[in-house]
Amino acid sequence: MERPATEAPGEVDKARQRVLSYYRHLFPGLSQQKLDGEKAEAGTADSLEAVPTVALDPAFDLSPEAVGKGWTSQPQEFDYELEVEGELPAELHGTLFRNGPGLLDVYGTPLVHPIDGDGMVCAIKFAEGKAHFRSKYVKTTGYMMEKKAQKLIFKGMMGTKPSPTWGEALSEWKEDVMKSKLPGQRFKNPANTNVYYWGGKLLATWESGLPYLLDPATLETKGKDTLNGALNDSHCLAAHFRYDAATDRLVNFSFQLAMSGKCKLFIYEFDKDWKLLSKQIHSFESYYYCHDFLLTENYYIFHQTPFYKLSRTNVAKIISGAYAPGQLMRYYPGESNAWRFPCNPN
Ligand SMILES: [Fe+2]
Repeated sequence: MERPATEAPGEVDKARQRVLSYYRHLFPGLSQQKLDGEKAEAGTADSLEAVPTVALDPAFDLSPEAVGKGWTSQPQEFDYELEVEGELPAELHGTLFRNGPGLLDVYGTPLVHPIDGDGMVCAIKFAEGKAHFRSKYVKTTGYMMEKKAQKLIFKGMMGTKPSPTWGEALSEWKEDVMKSKLPGQRFKNPANTNVYYWGGKLLATWESGLPYLLDPATLETKGKDTLNGALNDSHCLAAHFRYDAATDRLVNFSFQLAMSGKCKLFIYEFDKDWKLLSKQIHSFESYYYCHDFLLTENYYIFHQTPFYKLSRTNVAKIISGAYAPGQLMRYYPGESNAWRFPCNPN
């Protein structure tokens, strides 16, 4: 198969408009002139000065035109040998995996943000001086159901919403109620945030659902994975992990929000056979959100981002189905927090 053709004329323009719309949402103080003006200079945009903790690399092009290119879809999957300029070291063997949203519209419905897009895993395999590229979508439950229906069915965490018919909406509502699930909460697990290989498993991860197991050679999707049952109580796994070189363990976590107004943090340590060697559960009386963490010799350190404020009011907006979590994402001064928990002394 050949390389992808460049995007169709007009697609980048449409994507640019979507980027502008999202910038306005995220930074309400952004001036119209700055948005409509010529290419914005990275690091000097007046809006970004409102986020004092962000240090931008001046070489990083944050203009809507540049960012807009990341908001276009690549519906094709690829499998071809890469052309190499120069020479690859003969001793270079291994595969580089990457994951990210690849589909920025679902059968004609544009997503409101790339984070809602289906995960496309790319693999570049290096062997014997050659490089081979392969890409495949993670065939999640949501991806397959939407493929069959040829339309958007699931909501996205950033606000993407399907438009079901009255009949479909009623049928979904009935099904949710029968299963004692809260209606209006059918979010897709797009498995689009990270991909990593450990102990013979290649996992495509999100953070509010179970990871998907992939075949590391073909990238075929094998299905959801509970990590030998370790995730049976949390039903999710964060996208990011840490490797503890001192103990040769993989450390990762789950953050579970509950309707009761409390939340739980699960911290796991696995060996290379995916045997669960350590598990901690911490309960919080209020809502918090963590996307990533740090690991030191003695502590797990978690950071609460100031871009979420999981107040009861905001949670009520989400539970009612009126808002997706990402639509309430703002810079909330004073919402930063951090916790540290001692690692198990074994
Ligand atoms: Fe991340």
